[in-house]
Amino acid sequence: WRLVPVALMLFLLSGCLGEENLTALDPKGPAAQWIYDNMLLSIAVMTFVSIVVFVIFFLVIFKFRRKDGDEELPKQVHGNTAMEITWTVIPIILLIILFIPTVTGTFDFHVNADPSEHEDAVYIKVTGHQYWWQFDYEEGFTAGQEVYIPAGEDVVFELNAEDVIHSFWVPALGGKIDNIPGVTNALTLNADEPGVYKGKCAELCGPSHALMDFKVIALERDEYDAWVEDMLAVEQEATAANAEAGYEAFQENACISCHAIGGQGMATGPALTNFGDRQTLAGVYDIDDDELLKEWIRDPQSLKQGNNMPAHPDISDEDLDAIVEYLRSLQVRGADQEY
Ligand code: CUA
Repeated sequence: WRLVPVALMLFLLSGCLGEENLTALDPKGPAAQWIYDNMLLSIAVMTFVSIVVFVIFFLVIFKFRRKDGDEELPKQVHGNTAMEITWTVIPIILLIILFIPTVTGTFDFHVNADPSEHEDAVYIKVTGHQYWWQFDYEEGFTAGQEVYIPAGEDVVFELNAEDVIHSFWVPALGGKIDNIPGVTNALTLNADEPGVYKGKCAELCGPSHALMDFKVIALERDEYDAWVEDMLAVEQEATAANAEAGYEAFQENACISCHAIGGQGMATGPALTNFGDRQTLAGVYDIDDDELLKEWIRDPQSLKQGNNMPAHPDISDEDLDAIVEYLRSLQVRGADQEY
């Protein structure tokens, strides 16, 4: 029964490991690998200290316990220079072992985060909003919620925020750095392999902080180049040919006044240029559920409390259906692509 709390804790923690890639314990890039190696090093040091302390502790209480016939106080001693030097020097050595890789690594990453160190690298501006992510590419287009990068290359993320402090964290790729309004931070990540890496906002930023998820999608370089070209080529009208009624409803209901598509429209809300490729709705919900998408348009507060999208309680079912169809047609990579 003493193991019950341990079992309960493992059970609760097992939920944390279930999420795809949302773990720092399975590093997929050099920055994450460095963090993981340092975690192992400090666990090794802590384990060594714990073992030594507990062995001495149990040895002492066993060996020097009060035995039958022990009636007098044992000889009282205080002060032992040799022992005091020993238990001062050993912790200093252990701290040095932890200190050197931590500090050198921190400086390396600081230098590595400097954009001027990466003249040719892909450079993406990341802006945190309550509660979504904006990704501006140097080529001049914007993506929302899902950021595409080339695999195996350093990518510099320039971090900013629009409203309050957020924090950009992709546990499988590296550490977290805050997005602070009025301050520009930088973070360099490198994904070893193509794949989808889940990210989270790591700074409490309001009622829907826990729902402020995003994804990093790493593609092979040639696929990434093709994606950039396709993103640049998207125009509202061109894609609207598939779903003209939805395109019109999108304009009439003023969606376009917040959501940019193909470089047109305002960008106060997430760009929807490649909405049809998205893997989640609002960062966390099932993207394939039409009813959920309609519910989102009708009453966004019901799904993400405190977000800034206005409700559309009076929108007609006809318009909703058309808008959903239009949004689904906004594909750049195609919804059934392997990632
Ligand atoms: Cu944004 Cu928490």
